[in-house]
Amino acid sequence: MEQYIIRGGNPLVGEVDISGAKNAALGILAAAIMTDETVLIENLPDVRDINVLLEAMESIGVKVERITQHAVLMNSAQIGEVSVDYEYIKKIRASYYLIGALLGKYKRAEVPLPGGCNIGSRPIDLHLKGFKALGARVEIRNGFIVTEAEHLHGSHIYLDTVSVGATINIMMAAAMADGRTIIENCAREPHVVDVANFLNSMGANIKGAGTDVIRIRGVQKLHKTEYSIIPDQIEAGTFMFAAAATKGDVMVKNVIPKHLEATTAKLLEIGCEVEEFDNAVRVVASKRLCSTNVKTLPYPGYPTDMQPQIGVALALAKGTSIVTESIFENRFKYMDELARMGAIVRVEGNTAIITGVEKLSGARVSAPDLRAGAALVIAALAAEGVTVVDDITYIQRGYEEFDEKLRSLGAEIEKINSEKEALKFRLRTG
Ligand code: EPZ
Repeated sequence: MEQYIIRGGNPLVGEVDISGAKNAALGILAAAIMTDETVLIENLPDVRDINVLLEAMESIGVKVERITQHAVLMNSAQIGEVSVDYEYIKKIRASYYLIGALLGKYKRAEVPLPGGCNIGSRPIDLHLKGFKALGARVEIRNGFIVTEAEHLHGSHIYLDTVSVGATINIMMAAAMADGRTIIENCAREPHVVDVANFLNSMGANIKGAGTDVIRIRGVQKLHKTEYSIIPDQIEAGTFMFAAAATKGDVMVKNVIPKHLEATTAKLLEIGCEVEEFDNAVRVVASKRLCSTNVKTLPYPGYPTDMQPQIGVALALAKGTSIVTESIFENRFKYMDELARMGAIVRVEGNTAIITGVEKLSGARVSAPDLRAGAALVIAALAAEGVTVVDDITYIQRGYEEFDEKLRSLGAEIEKINSEKEALKFRLRTG
């Protein structure tokens, strides 16, 4: 099983290029099947989640041609069926975006019900409520969501909870429904806007994405397009906190600073210097970080996907901090791993109380989920001694060339497969 081995202590210094946004790409790839014409998608991140979704799409007949590491040509004129195999949804929940796309275009879809995941139960009741409001019959049969409609009609839908997935899935189905749809209490994340912009580039009529009310006029047909995915704000934020935790000086390039405002605000609060450029941000941390309090909220609030990264930075800060996770019910599992590195943390329900320590020490830890895994790597980069991180497949789901990018910033990190390789790393870096 592949692991990361890390010798901490080096400040991260230099420049890093951010890849395309995984969570925008997942919705956009699904939406691309809504036209029979050829679609070119660029700035795709080369990460496991994207590659698995492309396989799931090929399995239902989508023609996928990878023309570069970060670009695909897709044609969905030959989709033979609308049933997605369980194998794929088991590997990646976001295959459920295929429901909205298939239902919108073919008025039928059969996709396995996604299970829970390591950060919470993650129901999809709001997705299904939206499909029903548009006139679809929805049934759970043998672990599959089976949905179909003679035709889809516009509707006025209110989302009880702000949900990125429900907003995107319903928007796709409504894009080809008859008439007007209004979705209220929508998610406003940049990746929601990116999917809306992509659909509009294919001829959809979607207004208001990025606000909490999205208005859609259904169209009969969608046409070909060429589209480039926005930069990944969560990958960018992860490198910004890695610079902060290692007292480094990192220029994070190919970003949209506006998408990073909540992250930047917190980095300034804990004592970092942050300089913004047109498509880059520079983070400098020259002294020990200060404590602060943070609560995760839907965009533009502080992102839940950046909660483990600030949690790790605060474990090294002067003073006591309080982190409140208001989106998912089980997103503090990494705190136990962090305690094994010497952090002083106490989790009470959806709140973590963190008393900063001067130093963390290297240990054997395992990644409980994607963002927590990346945060544990940040902890290891700042710790004294050697850390081995298990279960790094979680991290590879959402971070392209994570160890390569960190090494280019001066980190002592390698991907290893055996004790022998671990020993060689220890001897070389010891
Ligand atoms: C998306 O998940 C992201 N995943 C998550 O990123 C991210 O953490 C989350 O949005 C919040 O920003 C992708 O985009 C692929 P939600 P999603 O629906 O859409 C509840 C990562 O690290 N809810 O916005 O599943 C839900 O339980 C991943 O890249 C319902 O109750 O999140 C949660 O408490 C992790 N019913 C809240 O809403 C529903 O039908 C927000 O979830 C849907 C959601």
